[in-house]
Amino acid sequence: MLNARFATTASPCLRSRVPRFVLSFFALLFSAASIAQQSPAAALGDGEVNQRVESLLQQMTLQEKIGQLTQIGPDPVAPENLQPEDLIRKGQAGSVLWTIDSARIERMQEIAVKESRLKIPLLFGYDVIHGYKNLFPVPIGMASSWDPALVESAQAMAAHEASVAGINWTFGPMVDIARDPRWGRIVEGAGEDPYLGAAMARAQVLGFQGPRLGTPHRVLGSVKHFAGYGAAEGGRDYDACYIPEELFRNVYLRPFAAAIEAGVGTAMSAYMDLNDVPASGNRWLLQDVLRRDLGFRGFVVSDAWAVHSLVAHGYARDFADAAYRGLVAGVDMDMGSETYLQNVAKLVESGKLPAARVDQMVREVLAIKIRMGLFENPYGDPASKDKVLNDPQHRAATRVAAQRCMALLRNENGALPLKKTLGSIALIGPIADSTEEIKGSWTVEEGPAVSVLEGLHNKLPNARIEFVRGGDMQRLFPLPWDAMLGKKATPPMPEAEMKKEVEKAVEAAKRADTVVLVLGERAFMTGEAASRASLALPGNQQQLLEAVVATGKPVVLVLLNGRPLDIAWAAEHVPAILEAWYPGTEGGNAIADVLFGDVNPGAKLPVSWPRTTGQVPIYYNHNLTQSPEDDPTFTSLYADFATAPLYPFGYGLSYTTFGFSRLQLDRKQIGASGTVQVSVDVENQGPVAGDEVVQLYIHQRAGSASRPVRELKGFERVALAPGEKKTVHFSLGKDELKFWSPQARAWVVEPEEFDVWVGGDSKAPLHAEFKVGQ
Ligand code: NOJ
Repeated sequence: MLNARFATTASPCLRSRVPRFVLSFFALLFSAASIAQQSPAAALGDGEVNQRVESLLQQMTLQEKIGQLTQIGPDPVAPENLQPEDLIRKGQAGSVLWTIDSARIERMQEIAVKESRLKIPLLFGYDVIHGYKNLFPVPIGMASSWDPALVESAQAMAAHEASVAGINWTFGPMVDIARDPRWGRIVEGAGEDPYLGAAMARAQVLGFQGPRLGTPHRVLGSVKHFAGYGAAEGGRDYDACYIPEELFRNVYLRPFAAAIEAGVGTAMSAYMDLNDVPASGNRWLLQDVLRRDLGFRGFVVSDAWAVHSLVAHGYARDFADAAYRGLVAGVDMDMGSETYLQNVAKLVESGKLPAARVDQMVREVLAIKIRMGLFENPYGDPASKDKVLNDPQHRAATRVAAQRCMALLRNENGALPLKKTLGSIALIGPIADSTEEIKGSWTVEEGPAVSVLEGLHNKLPNARIEFVRGGDMQRLFPLPWDAMLGKKATPPMPEAEMKKEVEKAVEAAKRADTVVLVLGERAFMTGEAASRASLALPGNQQQLLEAVVATGKPVVLVLLNGRPLDIAWAAEHVPAILEAWYPGTEGGNAIADVLFGDVNPGAKLPVSWPRTTGQVPIYYNHNLTQSPEDDPTFTSLYADFATAPLYPFGYGLSYTTFGFSRLQLDRKQIGASGTVQVSVDVENQGPVAGDEVVQLYIHQRAGSASRPVRELKGFERVALAPGEKKTVHFSLGKDELKFWSPQARAWVVEPEEFDVWVGGDSKAPLHAEFKVGQ
């Protein structure tokens, strides 16, 4: 839970083979702009780091050690109501949370490195999730690009902006697998798939941190929330997760493993109970899995107040017990609470907690600070802050990113692109004129953004664009921290007014050549503490949709949202549907670019899109049952509803069409450590240039465990001119074929037959097969 005292801004708070990808236009734009010119600091050897750590450790008092394990907030700290600055001066803080005032950050750092006894620099942590001032699409949108190069570049740019402002630690990437869109935090991750999730995790770590800790203009990353948080029962945020070990290792942990392999410096322990043991007091999770099995070498920070919350969970007896359990489990830094600060000394002095345990944790924190080069370069770069945050190339990059993240879900009879000769447009929807909602959750420094209304005006300056809100939507229960901060919830629009808005919308639609209907959710309806029991369009939007469609005018539906919503009615009655997610700073312009065909959409869904809430959790990589998957008499696992999702994982249309052919495997049989080379031709068979995401899926036909019906094991986003054909190559080796077997209790590659499919989504029909021999 976000501590109300610290809430300062609008938002709350395998190396599996990473696919080859084309270096996108975006990456070129950005790398030329500001990555390439940075030369990373030389990596320090383990020996030197250890020596420096030990030398510091020897000089530290117990209280100073506990300080390094404590992250304070920007407000006075109980019980003596000490200002954070005083605690820093006394060496009792290792890090500061939720401060974005650059001048204060600089002052705090100055106190740490000049006025504290040991001059240990501070980490300033903040959630820089999809941009700092220039905002990229929210993470689920970024994952829809299926373009790791784009994601890496975007996070590098976000890191650059944050670092000049003095923030040197971001709480990202969030890599929690989410199979249930009721869970509000689905917006912060890469969706349901471990392979795509791993690729996005790796790209984000490289973007945030650079090739190594200490890379100039980058920040420390924190992979979160370790682990399993996305499996919250019923999609209810913070609720318990029950995940069998095989599912945990094969699905939920894979993106974490990828982030660790990419060198992420910190990991954030999650809030919830994992199989009855809270993650932030879970020794098996934080020691055996994270450090022993995944080889993590950085430090663990708890989620905000998560150690403190071990009492609320009914796990720890009191706060001293909570501190003990957090430390023994392996939480190196206590985020935002005083639980360590107030209890650890007593625990050590009474002999309950060995001093060596504290020393080990301090070592981990100090080592990261040393590797980051913080002792040499503790400050941001306030002098260049304005220039970097207002760099037009950053803003331009957010537009390209937004364009590449939009998925076209429906386009009957060429309803899109719209013609630029249109004389009049009715733009309808409660947030279609908003420059705030388009940013999505997790915004940091205030900055401008382009609404859909403004984007349409920019695209067609001479057209008549009539905007009508058409109704409203609000949360039924406000955000918990809003209430704590005394913020009043905005009351929903009265029924009678909503009715009038619908009438106005209908009239506007009748007057216009075409309707652009923008529906979805307000940004704060997604994210933390924003789970929903229903995926229905909130407020009166379904009613608005049906009334506008009933006018008979051509309607294009644009979705601004952070999770799949129930759009089954629209999918039957609206000819064109564009999923824009929350596209960020240049969102409105990017939407207009796609609607009017200046950009051909090429994104693909990183989630299976349900037809109705009752279908969730829903995901494509489920196991087979005794009912054959493709037999129409057996397919319905529900008696009252179709089983298949509305749109499958990996799905997305284009203004052109693509054909796949010549799926070839270089061999029919390999040994357990062998590799099959796969190639396929993809051709643009339509009239305009476009991108296709070539996706490769496998299925192991039998073995020591039931294996998913399909699993993504390779992808590449390819740009093709009209008529152009390219051959795309994939490798299937040990990393792709292995799984954690619950019977062997180990990672295995089994001597079995495998299916391979390649195509444009998870239903791809083009098929081949091979065998792993003994
Ligand atoms: C709570 C959220 O769960 C976490 O994702 C975030 O990083 C922290 N608050 C800090 O803002």
